[in-house]
Amino acid sequence: MTEPSRNVELKAHDPDPARTLERALAAGARDAGLLRQRDTYFHVAAGRLKLREEDPGGATLIGYQRPDDAAERVSSYRLVEVPDADALRSALAAANGIDVVVVKRRHVLMWETVRIHLDEVRGLGSFLELEAVAEPGSDLRRERDQIARLRALLEIPDEALRERSYADALRGTGAGDGPVGEPDPELVALAREAAGRAYAPYSDFPVGAAVRTTDGRRFAGANVENAAYPQGQCAEASAIGALVAGGGGEIAEVVVAAPSSALCTPCGGCRQRLREFTPDDAPIHLVDLERVRRTTSLGELLPLSFGPEHLAA
Ligand code: THU
Repeated sequence: MTEPSRNVELKAHDPDPARTLERALAAGARDAGLLRQRDTYFHVAAGRLKLREEDPGGATLIGYQRPDDAAERVSSYRLVEVPDADALRSALAAANGIDVVVVKRRHVLMWETVRIHLDEVRGLGSFLELEAVAEPGSDLRRERDQIARLRALLEIPDEALRERSYADALRGTGAGDGPVGEPDPELVALAREAAGRAYAPYSDFPVGAAVRTTDGRRFAGANVENAAYPQGQCAEASAIGALVAGGGGEIAEVVVAAPSSALCTPCGGCRQRLREFTPDDAPIHLVDLERVRRTTSLGELLPLSFGPEHLAA
């Protein structure tokens, strides 16, 4: 049997991925690009087994052991290239059952021989991972030292460290394949505040919206009505205007807040406006002043939609 590979790893919650990216580049890290990853975890008797599908890239079956430890930890793993991901997923799902699915957007950087992952995990938020891949036979001192030095350069505080894997954290929220999970509390607060400042004297239906970008910036807007009624603007359109004025970017999460007993879903026009900046699977939380009424996604609100990539095709 082949020997497993080993990593020394560290994971932390990252409230400000744009700042982390700046620090990593300033420390000499090389940008290795963006990936979308979908990890399907299967029920197994020992350790963990996941099928990783990457875009761009192929599919890999990963069997591994991962001790939970908040400071750096050592994981050992085996990688097997998979030529037919659909067939393997079906076979393993039928035999063992699917435990949880983790979908994320990953920005990869390389610092010395350490991989830096800036992850936006669907349903969980933004995280940072450091992985030092060990040489075979290494006593791991070099890798531990690399992780400690990089942790200092990126200024990762103790309270940001996370022990649980994404899969374990998602299992805890009941999220997984769908766009569910807890909304970002700061984004909810921004949307509610914006609703409190809405200009809606004609409908008396104030709405606030807030968007969070994949690199962690947040923008809010409110509906703005007008005595010439058709000139009114929805909260989502205002939030998107703030996003564009603030530098633009991809939307990872949306909150629409209305202090109403009716569920306030984005109007048709705003679904299309969101479509320009939001992937189909990003969560859209519909909230009132007390609670999250419903979590949906653009794919659910606007199926078979038309977007920028159709013009490029
Ligand atoms: N409105 C929004 O701002 N967002 C929505 O998602 C639905 C409706 C506004 C438009 C108008 O000012 C008021 O709510 C009543 O339609």
